[in-house]
Amino acid sequence: MKFLRLTVIAAATLAAPLACAQSTGKLKVGLMLPATGTFAALGTAIDNGFRLYVAEQGGKLGGREVEYVRVDDESDPAKATDNINKLIKRDNVDVVVGSVHSGVAMAMAKVAKDTGTLLIVPNAGADAVTGPMCAPNIFRSSFSNWQPGYAMGEAMAKKGHRKVVTITWKYAAGDEMVRGFREAFTKAGGAVVKELNLPFPNVEFQALLTDIAATRPDAVFAFFAGGGAVKFVKDYAAAGLKSGIPLYGTGFLTDGTLEAQATDAEGLLTTLHYADSLNTPRDNAFRLAYAKAYKLQPDVYAVQGYDAAQMLAIGLAAVKGDVGKKAEFAAALRKARIDSPRGAFTVSASHNPVQDIYLRQVVGKQNQVVGVASAALADPGRGCRM
Ligand code: PHB
Repeated sequence: MKFLRLTVIAAATLAAPLACAQSTGKLKVGLMLPATGTFAALGTAIDNGFRLYVAEQGGKLGGREVEYVRVDDESDPAKATDNINKLIKRDNVDVVVGSVHSGVAMAMAKVAKDTGTLLIVPNAGADAVTGPMCAPNIFRSSFSNWQPGYAMGEAMAKKGHRKVVTITWKYAAGDEMVRGFREAFTKAGGAVVKELNLPFPNVEFQALLTDIAATRPDAVFAFFAGGGAVKFVKDYAAAGLKSGIPLYGTGFLTDGTLEAQATDAEGLLTTLHYADSLNTPRDNAFRLAYAKAYKLQPDVYAVQGYDAAQMLAIGLAAVKGDVGKKAEFAAALRKARIDSPRGAFTVSASHNPVQDIYLRQVVGKQNQVVGVASAALADPGRGCRM
């Protein structure tokens, strides 16, 4: 009897790791993205892009059929730990893809690091995720907040601007894009004369616009995104500032927003790792496939979702679908050249894209390429030890 009980326990212990780390059967992908709030459209575009790439592979990655579990994270950092824990512990996902908001992504990275769960970040730029929080099982398919901010610091200095006011939401993404901007802009001799902020996701811009008018800088650098970006660009124009104090920003200010911003966005210059007029065979094929599948034009968020799936595919191909082989998975991505619609990119030692940052200008309903603001720009990965 005792022998039998021991055998049962031994069998259960042996079976447990197999149940958590299957390399066959369906691949469960947890998509933790906003479906409500100011970033809702961004979450949809990422989801669309991810599924498009998987569909192009016949619905399988690493030889395993893909199955999705979707969570609305509401861009709420306070709910992020519970949300990702549910995906990992209740739904037993093999990989988590998320999210958009930097505060949410930092909470996710902590859990991913502690549990060893594979995490691919398809937007949130939080510098810490590929800095002090970096880990062998955490990757980003998008950008670090530092990257487009830094590129715009160089670009605005080249335009001859010297005194700039910055304006953004007061949280990691805004703070870090402004910090990257300031680093490059002051190195080139410029000065940030005022840093304006409001809490995320507030859109009561009036008092801050009055402050900009009174300060009379050479130009303004802004980070807003989604619904907030639509309202900011419209309010800036309505306040009569657009012609006298040129508005610049990271490309999120005008990406996926141009239908709603209409002529108020015309002419704006921004920096980002994607643009609407790249006109490469790779991007043209992607844009056509996306438009066919969703009856929508893609944007940077769709590209980042698509590339998160590509990165997962590259890693999984190297481990034949076994997400438990983390070192081999990471090694494959570290030597990969990812064939993105944005242009091919590589992955840095801290697992962030090394990529060209374009200078773009709004012409009609497109962010058209003006040139490359910063070629093969790598985030410094400060604080990452792996
Ligand atoms: C972020 O919180 O990291 C973030 C959100 C929206 C964007 C870009 C960055 O468009």
